[in-house]
Amino acid sequence: MSQRGRDSRKRPGGGQRQPAELAASEPEVRGLWESVPDEAPASRTVARERRTFVQNMIGVSARMQRVFRLVQKVAPTDSTVLLTGETGTGKEMVATAIHLQSARAHRPFVTVNAAAVPEALFESELFGHARGAFTGANADRVGLLRQADGGTLFLDEAAEMPVAVQAKLLRALQNGEVRRVGDQHATRVDVRVIAATNRNIQQALADGSLREDLYYRLNVFHIELPPLRERREDIPVLANFFRERFARAQGKRIERFSERSQFYLMRYDYPGNVRELENAIQRAVTLADGPEIGHFDLPPAFREAPVRLLREGDAFPYSEQWTLAQLEGEHIRRVLNHFAGNTTKAAKSLGISRSTLWRKMRDHRI
Ligand SMILES: Nc1ncnc2c1ncn2[C@@H]1O[C@H](COP(=O)(O)OP(=O)(O)OP(=O)(O)O)[C@@H](O)[C@H]1O
Ligand SMILES: [Mg+2]
Repeated sequence: MSQRGRDSRKRPGGGQRQPAELAASEPEVRGLWESVPDEAPASRTVARERRTFVQNMIGVSARMQRVFRLVQKVAPTDSTVLLTGETGTGKEMVATAIHLQSARAHRPFVTVNAAAVPEALFESELFGHARGAFTGANADRVGLLRQADGGTLFLDEAAEMPVAVQAKLLRALQNGEVRRVGDQHATRVDVRVIAATNRNIQQALADGSLREDLYYRLNVFHIELPPLRERREDIPVLANFFRERFARAQGKRIERFSERSQFYLMRYDYPGNVRELENAIQRAVTLADGPEIGHFDLPPAFREAPVRLLREGDAFPYSEQWTLAQLEGEHIRRVLNHFAGNTTKAAKSLGISRSTLWRKMRDHRI
């Protein structure tokens, strides 16, 4: 039964977090581990590694909770997984989590970043080569697919793979065997593939850089990592998690965020997603002088008002089509902007209490 009182936003672990909760020194962090079943059979080392890893994957938003549920469902299977999402949304973390929670966890997790391998070497990198297969092939080479035998191959930036190699990879996946460059015989391999891309798949398919047949083979189970700006409830939890982690690492006592820094953290759009937030907090912890992270400790980009609101003399985009709620949201945005995010002054000017302002900001997703 829900015990939601009138003041539910103060409830620890309440679904909706408001910016002020960034100040909590011990937030009720929730993440991937909440959905991890007690213990799948695993060696102690794997179990420890798994525990540490999943505890570091944070997400309280409904969308991340859904991602975690999908991870749990697909991990124990041998299914190929396709991870999509903007840069810094956690694709590599999810790939690692899937591997660690599979029966393959005690076998290798091998990463190949398709964008980083020169095209001419790609085939031999993935499939290996026999000595003398081509000029410069002075010794036999075991390819990454063989190295990953029994384990997982994480194919990062998959849409950057040369098209010819894509065809060969597809065959290898379908037949469960690899043939080294310059070799007549194929060898059996048992590899689970997890592919990731931050490119727009439809576009990659349309311009022919991603083969459709390979795409269908990879896309057996698709997990989309949502951008951070579409799950703002995760920002406070992540920010506190990183603050504690970096403060510990740097041997500093940093207990909270100033109100204004909370405002900027909540307002920012995070084109670099969680990675950008993580880097910003690391920098802020380094810069912070006292026990509090102030707004000047955040990167300058966080302090700039969104371009849309900056223009001087910008006519109020009033329209008869607007609802009262839209009008209220826009007005609050402008007033906050006018006072550079100072909620005390903004609330005073709006004639409401600060807690009402926080609530309205949350409702209007400001
Ligand atoms: N949910 C999360 N909880 C904690 N840390 C996270 C989370 N998501 C991402 N991170 C952190 O953000 C950084 C980027 O994550 P990751 O490398 O998995 O992103 P990515 O989607 O693979 O990005 P890219 O497309 O640029 O390769 C890492 O340092 C990771 O630890
Ligand atoms: Mg990555």
